[in-house]
Amino acid sequence: MALKITVIGTGYLGATHAAAMAELGFEVLGLDVVPEKIEMLQRGEVPMYEPGLEELLRKHVAGIEGSSGRLRFTMDFAEVAAFGDVHFVCVNTPQKHGEYACDMSYVDSAFAQLAPHLTKPALVVGKSTVPVGSAERLARELAAAAPAGVEAELAWNPEFLREGFAVKDTLHPDRIVVGVRSAHAEKLLREVYAGPVGEGSPFVVTDFPTSELVKTAANSFLATKISFINAMAEVCEAAGGDVVKLAEALGYDDRIGKKFLRAGIGFGGGCLPKDIRAFMARAGELGADQALTFLREIDSINMRRRGQMVEMAREALGGGSFLGKRVAVLGATFKPDSDDVRDSPALNVAGQIHLQGGQVTVYDPKGMANAGRLFPTLAYAETAVDAVRGADVVLHLTEWREFRELDPAVLGEVASNRLILDGRNALDPTVWRAAGWTYRAMGRPSA
Ligand code: UGA
Repeated sequence: MALKITVIGTGYLGATHAAAMAELGFEVLGLDVVPEKIEMLQRGEVPMYEPGLEELLRKHVAGIEGSSGRLRFTMDFAEVAAFGDVHFVCVNTPQKHGEYACDMSYVDSAFAQLAPHLTKPALVVGKSTVPVGSAERLARELAAAAPAGVEAELAWNPEFLREGFAVKDTLHPDRIVVGVRSAHAEKLLREVYAGPVGEGSPFVVTDFPTSELVKTAANSFLATKISFINAMAEVCEAAGGDVVKLAEALGYDDRIGKKFLRAGIGFGGGCLPKDIRAFMARAGELGADQALTFLREIDSINMRRRGQMVEMAREALGGGSFLGKRVAVLGATFKPDSDDVRDSPALNVAGQIHLQGGQVTVYDPKGMANAGRLFPTLAYAETAVDAVRGADVVLHLTEWREFRELDPAVLGEVASNRLILDGRNALDPTVWRAAGWTYRAMGRPSA
């Protein structure tokens, strides 16, 4: 009989995972503790902007006309325990307030609420990003609290999806990593992922700590790559080089590769920043802090970018204060194709200039509602053209396609000054200059 799957926590990761499991042919029951989220999902609506996710959800949510009916939602842990053979835990692990460490309270609470209902054999699979050593502890606690005892087994299966590509990354992952302690657990997970493995996704079997580490190591590597090229951008600024050309030339060496070498205002979002910090905190607890002190530098290079963008804007405006200056900000989300503004470098820059007296107007194709909630004191415009109207300087801070397709001539007519600063090195300088703009980007003083 086909496995029945549950997904606990229906945020970014969980909602996508649940829809993907239904797409792979399984009966799926999703659980969340927030009633509004469940109500939305039951209507086939997604609480965030993620290309293709709503369509996939509507294809499977029971009760929606023409759907497969394989995906349902609940708030009841007893129902989840009775239904599932494999339970995926997908709750988030944010950074703790005032500390680097990660907040495990949602994970702990999911396990605590599920375990007492596990009366039959079940595989609980952690997908959340956790400090190494968590799986070991959770496996012990699970076996102690579940009536099924050791037949309530744990596995760890980190998730590598990127926002903006969540559906594709989940259905066609570039690798599947499972930390398991028994052949039985491995067999069940091979069954779950038979589709993608059949298509060629590598299936890597490890112990618990390695599986937890793969995730934090991967995000640390990506963060390092971005901060590396941003450090080179700083040197290019000083030496009169061009970081975009530099990255292109480096990228042709396939040991280095061209991906994640886009210099600009740096990384943000709900993952990279908090994951490198949690990793440092955990290494400290393990007595291996020296091994990760370089991540502190990666973090500071990254955070410095935001201040450098502010200074570049100040300089471009004549070097004095922002008082009375009108600043248009294109982009609010931490990256394009997402409405996520968590730790967004773009909003951070907008906020800093605003707090220094600048009159900042922000436009973002999808992030306006979230940005407005986080930064209600900033001004928001309905369109890019409206944001630019009357601006003394335009800052391009999130590289949406819409911004690359803007007509610099049209914007030039409404701006009070044709001055654009590209914080993402994503616009074409020749096109802007041809329309009479002064174009300046980070790490390319001469370009
Ligand atoms: C990241 C990882 O890429 C995923 O593999 C991982 O699963 C996810 O975190 C997670 O831990 O859940 P995501 O946060 O969606 O995914 O975003 P990325 O595409 O990694 O971008 C992160 C930030 O780096 C963005 O602010 C982006 O603008 C910035 N970035 C990226 C650069 O500044 N330069 C680059 O070359 C690439």
